[in-house]
Amino acid sequence: MAEIKFIKNTSPKAKPSDETQLGFGRSFTDHMFLMDYTQGKGWHDPRIVPYGPLSLDPSCSVFHYGQEVFEGMKAYKTADGSIQLFRPEENFKRLNRSNERLCIPEIDVDFCVEAVKELIRVDRDWIPSAEGTSLYVRPFIIGCEPVLGVHPANNYLFIIILSPSGSYYANGMAPVKIFVESQYVRAVRGGIGYAKTGGNYAASLKAQQDAVGYSQVLWLDGVERKYIEEVGAMNVFFVIGDEIVTPELQGSILPGITRKSCIEILKDWGYTVSERRLSIDEVREAAQSGQLKEMFGTGTAAVISPVGELKYKDETIRIGDGIGELTQKLYDELTGIQLSKREDRFGWIQKI
Ligand code: PLP
Ligand code: COI
Repeated sequence: MAEIKFIKNTSPKAKPSDETQLGFGRSFTDHMFLMDYTQGKGWHDPRIVPYGPLSLDPSCSVFHYGQEVFEGMKAYKTADGSIQLFRPEENFKRLNRSNERLCIPEIDVDFCVEAVKELIRVDRDWIPSAEGTSLYVRPFIIGCEPVLGVHPANNYLFIIILSPSGSYYANGMAPVKIFVESQYVRAVRGGIGYAKTGGNYAASLKAQQDAVGYSQVLWLDGVERKYIEEVGAMNVFFVIGDEIVTPELQGSILPGITRKSCIEILKDWGYTVSERRLSIDEVREAAQSGQLKEMFGTGTAAVISPVGELKYKDETIRIGDGIGELTQKLYDELTGIQLSKREDRFGWIQKI
């Protein structure tokens, strides 16, 4: 792959003045990475250029048929000032699985990891260091062929943008209330649910908008509306008696990298984690019998997020009292590894 060309931004922006008020994905750094794909030529012209609007033909396929994939990862600044990424190669491997489903050409995982690192080096002064903050990295690919026929595009644009971010939820690491959606569905097996593509999120907006007073929606399976799938931007785990349960990956939910990391940590600690089908009725019954000890969500943006309440039809299911013990233990371990406060015993950290 060619060398990454660099055009410096000569009009840098003012950085957010208060790192404790960043929110999620609201401000962007001074540069972005771009790379083109042309059929017959492959990926070409990787470049880091000033952040700014793109000029695209209105007929481009992404605008009409949603041929798009994206990723989300974070860069962290540690106490000694070094900068690091958490399992970035996993994000680009998943991007390729999304690419395959959306008929988008494969990218080179190692090259993309290098491109992210190079972009972050350029904008390293934007990485916040206040507690709970990080630099959110959003790589994405869009179909750019200017043709209205419904077919995979011949041209694509690969983009990486960076956003200094704080907590995904307004109240930080505090138990959230989740609405169990029993009318709309997000995805079905055989569809695009396992791919990280805009269409899945477009499908989720209506339910999210209707669930006033709840942080997110918990999706049930698209066929029977009975089995638990995932939350809008998180995979979910339940502690029921001595069992830790998370829905199995069967094609309609996103295979989260935080989910996978939590399973590996939990197994390393000696816990048994069941990846299996879990119905909302089983969760209700476990809550009634006092067996439902904890519930938490996992995701790059949301980290480990305790769930304190589920609303299912007319019923309110309360879970625990504050942040559960295992939820807190996992949060401390995962963020400890990400910030090098704890040993990186799995080799997940890549220094920049
Ligand atoms: N599920 C959905 C729908 C998501 O958008 C995300 C966030 O990326 C996740 C789960 C968690 O995935 P990860 O842990 O890889 O960030
Ligand atoms: C992430 O956690 O990286 C995500 O992509 C969630 C996002 C949809 C806000």
